[in-house]
Amino acid sequence: MTMDATSQRFLMCRPTYFAVDYAINPWMDPSAPVDADLAIRQWEQLRQTYLDLGHTVELIDPVAGLPDMVFAANGGTVIDGKAMAVQFRDPQRADEAPAYRAWFEAAGFELYDPKHVNEGEGDVLLVGDYLLAGTGFRTAHASHAQLQEVFGYPVITMQLVDPRFYHLDTALTVLDERTVAYLPEAFSPGSQAVLRRLFPDAVHATMADAEVLGLNAVGDGRHVVLPAQATDLAAKLRDRGYETIGIDLSELRKAGGGPKCCTLRLRQGKASK
Ligand code: ARG
Repeated sequence: MTMDATSQRFLMCRPTYFAVDYAINPWMDPSAPVDADLAIRQWEQLRQTYLDLGHTVELIDPVAGLPDMVFAANGGTVIDGKAMAVQFRDPQRADEAPAYRAWFEAAGFELYDPKHVNEGEGDVLLVGDYLLAGTGFRTAHASHAQLQEVFGYPVITMQLVDPRFYHLDTALTVLDERTVAYLPEAFSPGSQAVLRRLFPDAVHATMADAEVLGLNAVGDGRHVVLPAQATDLAAKLRDRGYETIGIDLSELRKAGGGPKCCTLRLRQGKASK
């Protein structure tokens, strides 16, 4: 089987000021040690992996005092040249929103401001012509209607039920335009039924994979970059014909983040690509 990789444009933020100073999800323990230098080296390896795959990586300047700013996926949602800025649930991350907004503006994207809590691509994933939008912990359900209005893609609400999988991108990975991998137990019964209906061929991950944030992965249609510890998931993906690349982000996982959290997809307009 051959699969086509599409080259991607990503936005990332070097973890210069990364730390676990507060706890806003169950992964975060401010009393546990974090190796800040190792965090930077692991992040550099992720960035280099994207470059080696032929993707483009743009960088936003990190801001002192914003330790979670490395999680660029939460900086916005960018589709068809439109950038929707974010509004964080937690005050500790609030100041990241204007920093990312300014970056989108300077980069020439058409800007939209959120009316409700919206944590960007952490909770908003484009699969083909559908937007899957998570709610339950962070992004407000009300923001889903605004996403549909701004982007013009049908938005399908996904109810998250396990606090460890608080963002949609910790429970579900987009593999290509038609397929996803996900942890069924992270979703409400109704959302599980919707996922089965939309993606009958989806890869089902195990709790062991999800507990190492294995679903926080980045696919380009052919390759899947995922946490190195998610070995069962990697084997299942290889059986489906994907090439897997394991990355160790042990230090960033202490904040509840993996490869996808560090990576915001920048999508230009369809016509211009
Ligand atoms: N500590 C961050 C938070 O709780 C981690 C964000 C991870 N990002 C993601 N896209 N899942 O907000």
